[in-house]
Amino acid sequence: MAANRFNGYTDLGIGIGLRIPHYRHIFAEKPVVDWFEIISENYMVDGGRPLQVLDQILERYKVVQHGVAMYFGSAQPLNRDHLRRLKLLVRRTKTPWLSDHLCWGSVDGRYTHDLLPMPYTREAVATTAANIRQVQDFIEIPVVVENVSSYAEFHESEMTEWEFLNEEMEAAPCGILLDVNNIYVSSQNHGFDPLEYVNSVPAERVAQIHIAGHSKFEKYILDTHDHPVLEPVWSLYARAIERCGPTATLLEWDDNIPTFEEVHEEAMKAAKFLNAHSSHTFAETDTNELQEINR
Ligand SMILES: [Fe+2]
Repeated sequence: MAANRFNGYTDLGIGIGLRIPHYRHIFAEKPVVDWFEIISENYMVDGGRPLQVLDQILERYKVVQHGVAMYFGSAQPLNRDHLRRLKLLVRRTKTPWLSDHLCWGSVDGRYTHDLLPMPYTREAVATTAANIRQVQDFIEIPVVVENVSSYAEFHESEMTEWEFLNEEMEAAPCGILLDVNNIYVSSQNHGFDPLEYVNSVPAERVAQIHIAGHSKFEKYILDTHDHPVLEPVWSLYARAIERCGPTATLLEWDDNIPTFEEVHEEAMKAAKFLNAHSSHTFAETDTNELQEINR
Protein backbone atom coordinates (compact mmCIF):
# COMPACT_ATOMS: atom_id res chain seq x y z
CA MET A 1 0.00 0.00 0.00
CA ALA A 2 1.33 3.43 -0.90
CA ALA A 3 2.15 6.02 1.68
CA ASN A 4 -0.12 9.06 1.63
CA ARG A 5 0.30 12.73 0.81
CA PHE A 6 0.47 13.73 4.46
CA ASN A 7 3.68 11.84 4.97
CA GLY A 8 5.11 13.20 1.75
CA TYR A 9 4.70 9.84 -0.01
CA THR A 10 7.73 8.64 1.87
CA ASP A 11 8.55 5.53 3.83
CA LEU A 12 10.43 7.46 6.46
CA GLY A 13 10.80 4.31 8.52
CA ILE A 14 11.26 4.00 12.27
CA GLY A 15 12.46 6.87 14.41
CA ILE A 16 13.20 7.47 18.03
CA GLY A 17 12.95 10.58 20.15
CA LEU A 18 16.18 12.56 20.48
CA ARG A 19 16.91 12.65 24.22
CA ILE A 20 19.81 14.20 26.15
CA PRO A 21 20.98 10.94 27.87
CA HIS A 22 21.66 9.51 24.40
CA TYR A 23 23.67 12.43 22.96
CA ARG A 24 27.04 11.00 23.94
CA HIS A 25 26.27 7.60 22.40
CA ILE A 26 24.90 9.10 19.19
CA PHE A 27 27.89 11.34 18.60
CA ALA A 28 30.44 8.68 19.52
CA GLU A 29 28.89 5.66 17.80
CA LYS A 30 26.94 7.32 14.94
CA PRO A 31 24.27 4.58 15.00
CA VAL A 32 22.09 3.93 11.97
CA VAL A 33 18.67 5.45 12.72
CA ASP A 34 16.02 6.26 10.12
CA TRP A 35 15.16 9.58 11.77
CA PHE A 36 14.92 11.43 15.06
CA GLU A 37 11.90 13.23 16.43
CA ILE A 38 12.76 16.38 18.36
CA ILE A 39 10.59 18.34 20.75
CA SER A 40 10.49 21.72 18.98
CA GLU A 41 10.34 23.76 22.18
CA ASN A 42 13.71 22.37 23.33
CA TYR A 43 15.43 23.98 20.34
CA MET A 44 13.50 27.27 20.00
CA VAL A 45 16.38 29.24 21.42
CA ASP A 46 18.67 31.89 19.95
CA GLY A 47 21.83 29.82 20.06
CA GLY A 48 24.10 27.88 22.40
CA ARG A 49 24.41 24.18 23.09
CA PRO A 50 20.91 23.02 22.02
CA LEU A 51 21.33 24.39 18.50
CA GLN A 52 24.93 23.15 18.25
CA VAL A 53 23.69 19.65 19.09
CA LEU A 54 20.81 19.95 16.64
CA ASP A 55 23.06 21.07 13.80
CA GLN A 56 25.36 18.13 14.44
CA ILE A 57 22.39 15.76 14.32
CA LEU A 58 21.12 17.37 11.11
CA GLU A 59 24.45 16.74 9.40
CA ARG A 60 23.80 13.00 9.60
CA TYR A 61 20.10 12.34 10.29
CA LYS A 62 16.59 13.29 9.22
CA VAL A 63 14.69 15.18 11.88
CA VAL A 64 10.93 15.50 12.36
CA GLN A 65 9.57 18.19 14.66
CA HIS A 66 7.01 17.48 17.37
CA GLY A 67 5.63 20.26 19.57
CA VAL A 68 3.98 20.38 22.98
CA ALA A 69 2.85 24.00 23.24
CA MET A 70 0.64 24.90 20.29
CA TYR A 71 -2.72 24.15 21.96
CA PHE A 72 -4.67 24.00 18.70
CA GLY A 73 -7.87 23.57 20.71
CA SER A 74 -7.56 26.66 22.90
CA ALA A 75 -10.22 29.31 22.26
CA GLN A 76 -7.79 32.21 22.20
CA PRO A 77 -5.50 33.67 19.54
CA LEU A 78 -2.36 31.67 18.78
CA ASN A 79 0.89 32.96 20.20
CA ARG A 80 2.47 34.80 17.21
CA ASP A 81 5.89 34.99 18.80
CA HIS A 82 5.86 31.22 19.36
CA LEU A 83 4.87 30.71 15.72
CA ARG A 84 7.64 32.96 14.42
CA ARG A 85 10.29 31.10 16.41
CA LEU A 86 8.81 27.77 15.34
CA LYS A 87 9.05 28.75 11.69
CA LEU A 88 12.74 29.57 12.06
CA LEU A 89 13.32 26.10 13.49
CA VAL A 90 11.25 24.47 10.73
CA ARG A 91 13.53 26.11 8.16
CA ARG A 92 16.58 24.88 10.03
CA THR A 93 15.48 21.25 10.38
CA LYS A 94 13.58 20.94 7.05
CA THR A 95 11.07 18.76 8.89
CA PRO A 96 8.61 17.22 6.40
CA TRP A 97 5.68 18.11 8.67
CA LEU A 98 5.04 19.76 12.02
CA SER A 99 3.10 17.88 14.66
CA ASP A 100 1.46 19.01 17.89
CA HIS A 101 -1.48 17.86 19.99
CA LEU A 102 -5.21 17.99 19.47
CA CYS A 103 -5.78 19.53 22.88
CA TRP A 104 -6.10 22.77 24.78
CA GLY A 105 -3.99 24.10 27.61
CA SER A 106 -4.29 27.86 27.89
CA VAL A 107 -6.96 30.32 28.99
CA ASP A 108 -6.62 34.12 28.83
CA GLY A 109 -2.90 33.90 28.13
CA ARG A 110 -2.20 31.61 31.08
CA TYR A 111 -0.64 28.27 30.14
CA THR A 112 -1.25 25.08 32.08
CA HIS A 113 1.61 23.21 30.31
CA ASP A 114 -0.73 20.22 30.21
CA LEU A 115 -2.24 18.52 27.18
CA LEU A 116 -5.90 18.77 28.20
CA PRO A 117 -8.56 16.75 26.36
CA MET A 118 -11.04 18.54 24.13
CA PRO A 119 -14.78 18.78 24.66
CA TYR A 120 -15.98 16.83 21.60
CA THR A 121 -18.35 19.50 20.28
CA ARG A 122 -18.97 21.03 16.86
CA GLU A 123 -17.93 24.41 18.23
CA ALA A 124 -14.58 22.96 19.32
CA VAL A 125 -14.11 21.36 15.87
CA ALA A 126 -14.54 24.79 14.24
CA THR A 127 -12.28 26.67 16.68
CA THR A 128 -9.55 24.07 16.37
CA ALA A 129 -9.79 23.91 12.57
CA ALA A 130 -9.37 27.69 12.34
CA ASN A 131 -6.22 27.49 14.48
CA ILE A 132 -4.80 24.60 12.43
CA ARG A 133 -5.37 26.54 9.20
CA GLN A 134 -3.64 29.60 10.61
CA VAL A 135 -0.60 27.60 11.67
CA GLN A 136 -0.38 25.75 8.37
CA ASP A 137 -0.66 28.99 6.38
CA PHE A 138 2.03 30.62 8.47
CA ILE A 139 4.49 27.73 8.78
CA GLU A 140 4.04 26.65 5.13
CA ILE A 141 4.52 22.94 5.70
CA PRO A 142 1.88 20.28 6.51
CA VAL A 143 0.50 20.40 10.05
CA VAL A 144 -0.24 17.10 11.76
CA VAL A 145 -2.33 16.75 14.92
CA GLU A 146 -1.93 14.05 17.57
CA ASN A 147 -4.68 12.45 19.64
CA VAL A 148 -3.88 12.78 23.36
CA SER A 149 -4.52 10.32 26.17
CA SER A 150 -7.21 11.43 28.61
CA TYR A 151 -8.41 10.74 32.12
CA ALA A 152 -11.56 12.89 32.13
CA GLU A 153 -14.39 13.70 29.72
CA PHE A 154 -16.77 16.63 29.31
CA HIS A 155 -20.54 16.39 29.83
CA GLU A 156 -20.84 18.83 26.90
CA SER A 157 -19.38 16.33 24.39
CA GLU A 158 -21.66 15.69 21.43
CA MET A 159 -19.70 12.80 19.91
CA THR A 160 -16.99 10.21 20.58
CA GLU A 161 -13.32 11.11 20.36
CA TRP A 162 -12.92 9.28 17.05
CA GLU A 163 -15.97 11.04 15.59
CA PHE A 164 -14.40 14.30 16.73
CA LEU A 165 -11.13 13.39 14.97
CA ASN A 166 -13.05 12.61 11.77
CA GLU A 167 -14.98 15.89 11.94
CA GLU A 168 -11.72 17.75 12.51
CA MET A 169 -10.24 16.19 9.38
CA GLU A 170 -13.32 17.31 7.43
CA ALA A 171 -12.87 20.84 8.74
CA ALA A 172 -9.09 21.25 8.55
CA PRO A 173 -6.68 20.32 5.74
CA CYS A 174 -4.16 18.67 8.06
CA GLY A 175 -2.73 15.25 8.79
CA ILE A 176 -2.90 12.97 11.82
CA LEU A 177 -0.22 11.76 14.17
CA LEU A 178 -1.97 8.65 15.40
CA ASP A 179 -0.77 7.69 18.87
CA VAL A 180 -1.96 4.10 19.33
CA ASN A 181 -0.74 4.01 22.92
CA ASN A 182 -2.87 7.06 23.72
CA ILE A 183 -5.87 5.35 22.13
CA TYR A 184 -5.28 2.28 24.28
CA VAL A 185 -4.78 4.30 27.48
CA SER A 186 -7.97 6.33 26.90
CA SER A 187 -9.97 3.22 25.95
CA GLN A 188 -9.08 1.62 29.26
CA ASN A 189 -9.83 4.78 31.24
CA HIS A 190 -13.16 5.49 29.52
CA GLY A 191 -14.32 1.98 28.57
CA PHE A 192 -14.47 2.12 24.77
CA ASP A 193 -13.22 -0.35 22.16
CA PRO A 194 -9.80 0.85 20.93
CA LEU A 195 -10.17 -1.16 17.74
CA GLU A 196 -13.35 0.73 16.85
CA TYR A 197 -11.32 3.93 17.17
CA VAL A 198 -8.44 2.68 14.97
CA ASN A 199 -10.90 1.31 12.41
CA SER A 200 -12.60 4.69 12.09
CA VAL A 201 -9.49 6.83 11.58
CA PRO A 202 -9.29 8.43 8.09
CA ALA A 203 -6.25 6.37 7.04
CA GLU A 204 -5.40 8.60 4.08
CA ARG A 205 -4.64 11.44 6.52
CA VAL A 206 -2.23 9.59 8.84
CA ALA A 207 1.28 11.01 8.47
CA GLN A 208 2.93 9.43 11.49
CA ILE A 209 2.30 6.94 14.28
CA HIS A 210 3.47 7.04 17.90
CA ILE A 211 3.98 3.90 19.93
CA ALA A 212 4.91 3.97 23.62
CA GLY A 213 4.73 2.08 26.89
CA HIS A 214 2.44 3.02 29.75
CA SER A 215 1.89 2.28 33.45
CA LYS A 216 -1.10 0.37 34.72
CA PHE A 217 -2.52 1.21 38.15
CA GLU A 218 -5.44 -0.40 39.93
CA LYS A 219 -8.10 2.03 38.70
CA TYR A 220 -6.54 3.76 35.72
CA ILE A 221 -3.71 3.70 33.17
CA LEU A 222 -1.17 6.52 32.90
CA ASP A 223 0.54 7.44 29.66
CA THR A 224 4.03 7.45 31.20
CA HIS A 225 6.29 6.58 28.23
CA ASP A 226 8.57 4.66 30.58
CA HIS A 227 8.08 1.01 29.58
CA PRO A 228 8.45 -1.19 26.51
CA VAL A 229 5.40 -1.23 24.24
CA LEU A 230 2.75 -3.63 25.55
CA GLU A 231 1.09 -6.35 23.49
CA PRO A 232 -2.36 -4.69 23.13
CA VAL A 233 -0.64 -1.56 21.79
CA TRP A 234 1.32 -3.63 19.24
CA SER A 235 -2.00 -5.14 18.14
CA LEU A 236 -3.49 -1.68 17.58
CA TYR A 237 -0.32 -0.66 15.76
CA ALA A 238 -0.60 -3.71 13.49
CA ARG A 239 -4.17 -2.76 12.61
CA ALA A 240 -3.20 0.86 12.01
CA ILE A 241 -0.45 -0.17 9.57
CA GLU A 242 -2.83 -2.57 7.87
CA ARG A 243 -5.19 0.36 7.27
CA CYS A 244 -2.69 3.18 6.62
CA GLY A 245 0.12 1.36 4.83
CA PRO A 246 3.76 1.88 5.83
CA THR A 247 3.80 4.97 7.98
CA ALA A 248 6.58 6.84 9.74
CA THR A 249 6.67 5.32 13.22
CA LEU A 250 8.18 6.71 16.38
CA LEU A 251 8.75 5.09 19.77
CA GLU A 252 8.28 7.56 22.64
CA TRP A 253 10.35 6.83 25.75
CA ASP A 254 10.57 9.87 28.02
CA ASP A 255 11.09 8.60 31.56
CA ASN A 256 13.42 6.01 33.10
CA ILE A 257 15.17 6.20 29.74
CA PRO A 258 17.30 3.08 29.14
CA THR A 259 20.37 2.92 26.90
CA PHE A 260 20.16 4.08 23.31
CA GLU A 261 20.50 0.48 22.11
CA GLU A 262 17.54 -0.67 24.23
CA VAL A 263 15.28 2.13 23.01
CA HIS A 264 16.31 1.59 19.40
CA GLU A 265 15.83 -2.18 19.63
CA GLU A 266 12.34 -1.70 21.05
CA ALA A 267 11.47 0.73 18.25
CA MET A 268 12.75 -1.64 15.58
CA LYS A 269 10.18 -4.26 16.60
CA ALA A 270 7.81 -2.14 14.49
CA ALA A 271 9.68 -3.31 11.37
CA LYS A 272 7.85 -6.63 11.34
CA PHE A 273 4.52 -4.85 10.90
CA LEU A 274 5.84 -2.30 8.39
CA ASN A 275 7.44 -5.02 6.26
CA ALA A 276 4.14 -6.83 5.93
CA HIS A 277 2.72 -3.81 4.05
CA SER A 278 5.73 -2.24 2.35
CA SER A 279 7.77 -2.64 -0.80
CA HIS A 280 10.77 -1.58 1.30
CA THR A 281 12.38 -3.94 3.80
CA PHE A 282 13.03 -2.46 7.22
CA ALA A 283 15.66 -4.01 9.48
CA GLU A 284 14.10 -6.27 12.10
CA THR A 285 15.04 -7.32 15.59
CA ASP A 286 15.85 -10.99 16.05
CA THR A 287 13.24 -13.69 15.71
CA ASN A 288 13.14 -14.60 19.39
CA GLU A 289 12.13 -11.07 20.24
CA LEU A 290 9.41 -11.06 17.62
CA GLN A 291 8.05 -14.27 19.08
CA GLU A 292 7.95 -12.46 22.42
CA ILE A 293 5.80 -9.74 20.85
CA ASN A 294 3.41 -12.30 19.43
CA ARG A 295 2.82 -14.09 22.71
FE1 LIG B 1 2.45 10.63 21.42
